[in-house]
Amino acid sequence: MRNITIALTKGRLAAKTLALFEKCGISSAGADDKDTRKLIFKNEELGVNFFLAKGPDVPTYVYYGAADIGVVGRDTILEEGLKLYEVLDLGFGRCRMCVCGPESARELLASGETIRVATKYPNIAKEYFRKRRQQTVEIIKLSGSIELAPIVGLSDVIMDIVETGSTLRENGLVVLEEVCPLSARVVVNQVSMKLENKRIAELISKLREGLREE
Ligand code: PRP
Repeated sequence: MRNITIALTKGRLAAKTLALFEKCGISSAGADDKDTRKLIFKNEELGVNFFLAKGPDVPTYVYYGAADIGVVGRDTILEEGLKLYEVLDLGFGRCRMCVCGPESARELLASGETIRVATKYPNIAKEYFRKRRQQTVEIIKLSGSIELAPIVGLSDVIMDIVETGSTLRENGLVVLEEVCPLSARVVVNQVSMKLENKRIAELISKLREGLREE
């Protein structure tokens, strides 16, 4: 019988995700060792493989079936827009997708004029401004430190994740509009869901159980 492969997101979500799996009796076979350069971890006893990947790559691995299951932020799922089954909200990694900027941009945003939006999430931004708000925007794609953009005059506003709000506060920016709530989700490949239904359902129910106990 082949192993079920699980792709986890490196970084902020990794420790909490690995702790949850461990708690549910699904040991990651060393994936939680921060010093290792190993890329894939095999729990032969349970027939489960784990690997860690950058957030935006997790939906890709799952979509193409290189991983059967993925754990990734809802922001990344929305941005990548791939057809996957989203089966479980893990409840951690909670934050909000927001339009932010200086208080002075509030009027501009409401005026319907063409505005410049800097973001790591061009697809979510397009969907929100063009489809939901029917506002013409110029989207500027950045890779990080998005809050810098309105400060140095690259954009009028940003679309980004707000967790504690401290990055905004420390840079004199505010939330202007809330787009959607976010958290870590479990996604499943659509073919795997059919072919490996029993084993995947078992894994998901163990996770669900673990969450209930928290
Ligand atoms: C994220 C996000 C914000 C910040 C929000 O950035 O892009 O900058 O966290 O968190 P807060 O509301 O708690 O301040 P991240 O730290 O992932 O790094 P990045 O700027 O390089 O994307």
